Amino acid sequence: MSGRTPDSVGEKESGPWHATLLTLMPEMFPGTLGHSLAGRALEKGIWSLDTVQIRDFATDRHRTVDDTPFGGGAGMVMRPDVLDRALASVEDRQGPVLYMSPRGRVLDQGFAKELADGPGVTILCGRYEGVDQRVLDARSVVEVSIGDYILSGGELAATVLMDTVVRLLPGVMGNQESASEESFETGLLEYPIYTRPAEWEGRDVPEVLQSGHHARIREWRQARAEELTRQRRPDLWQAWLDQQKITKQGH
Ligand code: ADE
Repeated sequence: MSGRTPDSVGEKESGPWHATLLTLMPEMFPGTLGHSLAGRALEKGIWSLDTVQIRDFATDRHRTVDDTPFGGGAGMVMRPDVLDRALASVEDRQGPVLYMSPRGRVLDQGFAKELADGPGVTILCGRYEGVDQRVLDARSVVEVSIGDYILSGGELAATVLMDTVVRLLPGVMGNQESASEESFETGLLEYPIYTRPAEWEGRDVPEVLQSGHHARIREWRQARAEELTRQRRPDLWQAWLDQQKITKQGH
């Protein structure tokens, strides 16, 4: 038994990080995840992915997976019995079972790290108006949102989640430093970056970045990161100030 609870992400086991996608559109995967960084990691066997066609678990002649909502209302709802059979068919279930939904816990970098530290995920991708609540309750499914907007289905949201997690797996990103200075890693948005040419359309790259003076460059970057965060994301800025206060009190 895995002892899985709604909030746990499971213990790390041997083998690659594994994602199982339950979907009505398995042909959507790996999609963009078969390219670039995630695609190379997939080829290298750092992570693996398989899909389950939910429709294969319908039992009637028409292979029905949905029905009208009790109480009335628009759209169709995915049936709990069909979804549960699809879920039960996943023998090597790794980590938590997630359901991509705008009602869920919002995905952020911290949650992505938790998932990357675990053995993998099983993700239920809904279509239509949603899925019957009982299967979510009965199987301790964790609802996850990728933001406050509505997509037409969970597949794209699942792709976003996997992309975010996979790039954090050991061996996926060549230069580990490039992860540690990114937006959200430090608690601040990332400072602006520049490359050649040093002058473009009358716009110069800030002098300090061309000075070779590492301490001054570090200071400049820190100041710009703070300024950007204060201007654009008051929520992150407040959290960062609070964190600074705690760190200072601790010393
Ligand atoms: N399905 C539809 N909209 C979604 C969202 N914002 N996040 C996750 N899953 C979704």
